[in-house]
Amino acid sequence: MFLKNKYFIPRQKVDLPWSDLSFVKSVVAPRPQEKSFVSRLEQTFVQQYGADSAFGVSSGTSGIYLALKSLGLPAGANVILSALNYHSIPKLVRQMGFNPVYADVDERTWLVSPESLEKAIRRYKPVKAVIVTHLFGLFPEIHKIMDICEHHDIPVIEDCAHSVFDGPDNRFLGTYGKAAVLSFSTTKPLNLSGGGMVLSNDLGLTKVIKANYASFKAPPHLDLLKSTMMTIFQALMTSDTGFPVLAYPPIRVAVDVLNLDVELRKFRIRHRQNVAVVEQRLHEIQGYWALTKMSRLRADNEWKKEMTQILAHQLENRFTFPFIDKKRTPALLFFPLFFEEPTKAMKYLLRKGVDTKMNYMTDCSNGECGTAARFSGGMVCLPMHPSITRDKFLYMVDVVKGMK
Ligand SMILES: Cc1ncc(COP(=O)(O)O)c(C=O)c1O
Repeated sequence: MFLKNKYFIPRQKVDLPWSDLSFVKSVVAPRPQEKSFVSRLEQTFVQQYGADSAFGVSSGTSGIYLALKSLGLPAGANVILSALNYHSIPKLVRQMGFNPVYADVDERTWLVSPESLEKAIRRYKPVKAVIVTHLFGLFPEIHKIMDICEHHDIPVIEDCAHSVFDGPDNRFLGTYGKAAVLSFSTTKPLNLSGGGMVLSNDLGLTKVIKANYASFKAPPHLDLLKSTMMTIFQALMTSDTGFPVLAYPPIRVAVDVLNLDVELRKFRIRHRQNVAVVEQRLHEIQGYWALTKMSRLRADNEWKKEMTQILAHQLENRFTFPFIDKKRTPALLFFPLFFEEPTKAMKYLLRKGVDTKMNYMTDCSNGECGTAARFSGGMVCLPMHPSITRDKFLYMVDVVKGMK
């Protein structure tokens, strides 16, 4: 009875063409005369972002740790974060001995606005750093934000976990702040089963990052083996044949019948108190794998932009979602929709074969920031991975429109 839908669309797709597994060769037959794959990847990022430096790390979280540590802030320093954030980031900031404080997001854009940033800077004076989150890859008013921070002499770190090779004004997000951090975990635009990259656009900061990075160790092979096995499993579960028969039925029971998705998420957020920060580098295998994927990322972004535009156009005035500028459309990681009854919406979509992610970003200010709290409580994220074919995508649009 579960398999009657025309299409099945997983919330995320782990794409693992067998050619990607050719990285095994790179391990079996290492070529010492060549530069390491991680260095080559770092060089590629430096060139394409026009950055001063790039450092491959074991996760986006480790990257934020490295960038923030390198700013050399005093203990207890106030660090402004977007209230609508990934739950680990404020925990990390606190664990590092700083004080996370929050700027609310804007009702229209779902991002921290220049006005809300100014307000937070005044309220939490002195503010020693700002981490700007490019939520879902949406474009913030980055010039105004940078002007404000420069005026107050506050360094900016851009959290680019959701955005790779994309930005407004023919300039990538990640090139504005003193440093930027990318994540390569499974849901992200460049999926390497983990990993991340710190970019710096500041020569002084580059020197400090380099000194701190010196103590970062190469990750144990076993860790990567584990995450590679997990990637292969996820690739199988989210493949065109695997998802409908292997993953969809248990997800349907868990979400629709047992309400487990919501409960598990609450449990995970409540009980994951500390963030495991490991001073580790990106693995050579991930470096190799990334190099094979780099050329696809621009085309992926183009398709995501097209999907974003179609959804924004089709759902306009009927659903609540962040403002999308038709002339400068971002390549979204997920397309977030706000519902008063998100569980009901998620179940409806799932019954039609569309698997969504709920409340991926949460209000980290514990209700202090009203708009973030509101969106966080009702967010349903539509899948936007590049492997969704046009037919499947248009089906998903019709399903969403059928809800109202
Ligand atoms: C906005 C944001 N920043 C940082 C991170 C951390 O990245 P990682 O999972 O690679 O540690 C995430 C992870 O989902 C994220 O969504």
